[in-house]
Amino acid sequence: MHRYRFIATLVFLTSLISARTALAQPANANYDEANVPQFELPDPLTMLDGTRVKDPATWHTSRRPEVLSFFETQVYGIAPSRPANLSFHVFEQDENALDGKAIRKQITVRFSAETDDGPAMDMLIYLPKNQTQPIPTFVGLNFSGNHSIYPDPAIKLSTRWMRAKPDQGIVEHRATEESRGKASRRWPVETILSRGYGLATIYYGDIDPDFDDGFLNGVHPLYFEQGQTQPNPDQWGSIGAWAWGLSRAMDYFEADDSIDQSRVAVLGHSRLGKTALWAGARDSRFALVISNNSGCGGAALSRRRFGETVKRINTSFPHWFCDNFIEYNDNEDQLPIDQHMLISLIAPRPVYIASAQEDRWADPRGEFLSAKNADPVYRLLGTSGLPATEMPEVDQPSQGTIGYHIRSGKHDVTEFDWEQYLKFADMHFRLSN
Ligand code: GCU
Repeated sequence: MHRYRFIATLVFLTSLISARTALAQPANANYDEANVPQFELPDPLTMLDGTRVKDPATWHTSRRPEVLSFFETQVYGIAPSRPANLSFHVFEQDENALDGKAIRKQITVRFSAETDDGPAMDMLIYLPKNQTQPIPTFVGLNFSGNHSIYPDPAIKLSTRWMRAKPDQGIVEHRATEESRGKASRRWPVETILSRGYGLATIYYGDIDPDFDDGFLNGVHPLYFEQGQTQPNPDQWGSIGAWAWGLSRAMDYFEADDSIDQSRVAVLGHSRLGKTALWAGARDSRFALVISNNSGCGGAALSRRRFGETVKRINTSFPHWFCDNFIEYNDNEDQLPIDQHMLISLIAPRPVYIASAQEDRWADPRGEFLSAKNADPVYRLLGTSGLPATEMPEVDQPSQGTIGYHIRSGKHDVTEFDWEQYLKFADMHFRLSN
């Protein structure tokens, strides 16, 4: 009896998962270069009124704010600033974590008054031990709870809602003990620490659970005006909220002397890669930005309509972007920006765009072209930009102030990806190893 129920549940769950995949990645998606339409990209160095941007000052004072404002009002939505009552509570700290190799801290960042049990996020931080200087640190959101990134029994098990992943110990939308360390392949904690970096991570669902509930849960309601029940068309969606959460992590780093706040690299994979780019674009305290397979609404050019499109993403994930973005469904040419300009907002800070060969849904070529078309802004600001003029061969990274690679394999974060990120961070943060 039990066994049948188990099998029936499995069949049901699998059908749910494949229904979701079918919805997100329809069979009629375009994967043919020949069907990429002709398009003209907006020039990052020409103002809307036609003025050419010829010097860094004009970029910083006029064009950059114009571009940023388009992304805010048309794509990700305007987000609030730092909450007045933001507070940090270190609820666990161990100077001898990971067999004496690391310091572990766990902090609750509260978004509203201290006594309130309103929205908050838990951050896990590992720092290498015996460092005399503040530590350069990678920060990224995770998909399945802080406890999933490393099999350390002291990490608080998340109690939040999670997307169903029965094979990863997430049952009925909650993490179980079995889910500890299940994502550790994507988070090489020991390598990161041995290279002299810290690692900070937060479960993205702490900031806003990743499903379309009309913004009842998560951080959004905290900012509604009297009588408001959902964000206005130009106000933040979920990606905007997740990026905002990363800025709150940065607020914490500014208050923690053991972390080098001038050398914080923000990174993310897939939807969280979109988030990392947006966080880096809007918050210049992030010194380096890494997008891993971020695709549509991340590094990939929308106008190419290759793999995932604006209409598809707005339909599958109506809560990710602001409602104004819907106006560009099947209407990409009307966008006053394209995603190369998101990358250009990060200039002159180093940015790394990583694609995967089999991740056609995310349009690797569109990601490369975005990096390439941000290059003129990077050069205007006196940096080396992206060395590659053509799309590099598979597994042949090109690293200047803009870094790019397309690695072999699937949509994922691999050891190869991390090797490049550490090398890129070493180059820009000037660590000797
Ligand atoms: C879906 C979605 C992508 C997203 C990805 C992910 O495939 O269509 O836009 O990047 O999920 O976050 O894993």
